[in-house]
Parts: sequence; structure tokens; C-alpha cells
Amino acid sequence: MLKILFPGRTIINGLELGCNYGPYLHFLENKRGITGIRGAEIDELAVEYAQRNGVPVDKMNAANLPLESNSQEVVLSNNFLCPTHFQGHRGEEIMDSIAREIMRVLRPGGIYVSSLDDAVPGISVFAGFQTFSCERRYDVLAGLRIWYKPES
Ligand SMILES: C[S@@+](CC[C@H](N)C(=O)[O-])C[C@H]1O[C@@H](n2cnc3c(N)ncnc32)[C@H](O)[C@@H]1O
Repeated sequence: MLKILFPGRTIINGLELGCNYGPYLHFLENKRGITGIRGAEIDELAVEYAQRNGVPVDKMNAANLPLESNSQEVVLSNNFLCPTHFQGHRGEEIMDSIAREIMRVLRPGGIYVSSLDDAVPGISVFAGFQTFSCERRYDVLAGLRIWYKPES
């Protein structure tokens, strides 16, 4: 998928949110030769395990990312930003904060790629997300939802 979105690139400045111990990041580096994407994970044990195995995962809260605005070429999430995982007290508010952080850290023209389970259509946060933040939505890659942050 990254080879399609970033043809010819092997270093891509990006972030995977809620990556746990980073198996996808490990796959990208070792099977696809792509580096530069860091994991953001809130669970300390998962972060420790990833770091012990040389996978670039940092302890970060996706709802309050310690990253500069407009700094990332791509943000990924696999099975992360969906209501099932953010149920209950403040769940929707947290998802809204995460959605806003994604758009804040993406550079203009940057891409958010979410796996099929994420961003269930129809929930209010994502209805807002698509209209306030994104102008183009591409469904070219089956099973993924892909948004571009507007250039201006
Ligand atoms: C369902 S798991 C998905 C893990 C991995 N992406 C995968 O597909 O196997 C969700 C992950 O998000 C992490 N998580 C939950 N809230 C988070 C937050 N606010 N910031 C960063 N990570 C978070 C959890 O600790 C967990 O590792």
C-alpha cells in the first residue's frame, strides 16, 4: 500500500497510531525495506517489547501527540480508531481528539490511511472528520480508507 502511495520511496516520514508492539512496522522495514514510520502506542509494555526488538515505537497518546504540526507525510492506523475500542465515558471525545491530532500533524497534502475496521462510516466523529478536514477521499486500495489533508 505504501509502495503505491509513495512510489519509489524507501524513507517515509510518518506515524502508525495504536501500533501495539509494532508488527506492521517490523514488516515494513524487514519485508518492504521502508523506514521512517514510527509507532505511537500508549501501552508501556507493548512499547518496551517493541523497543527491545528494535522496532521504532514510542510511548505516545494519539489524542495528544508530542509532534510538530504539519510534520508527517503519512499517518496510519490498523484496527485502532473505531468505536469498539473507544466505548464508554469520553470515548467519542477521545476519538474526536485523535482525529484532530491526525489532521494537525499531517503536512498539507499528507495522507491518513485507516484499515477497514476503523472509521466506521456514520459515526459523528468521522462525519465531522471527513468534512472539516478532508477534501479528497480515495478508495483505490481495496479495504482501506484513505484521506488527504487539503493542500491549503
Ligand atoms: C486493537 S489494538 C490494535 C493494535 C494493532 N494496530 C493491530 O492492528 O494489531 C489498539 C491499540 O491501540 C492502543 N491505544 C489505545 N488508545 C491509545 C491512544 N490514545 N494512543 C495510542 N495508542 C492507543 C492500545 O494500547 C492497543 O495497542
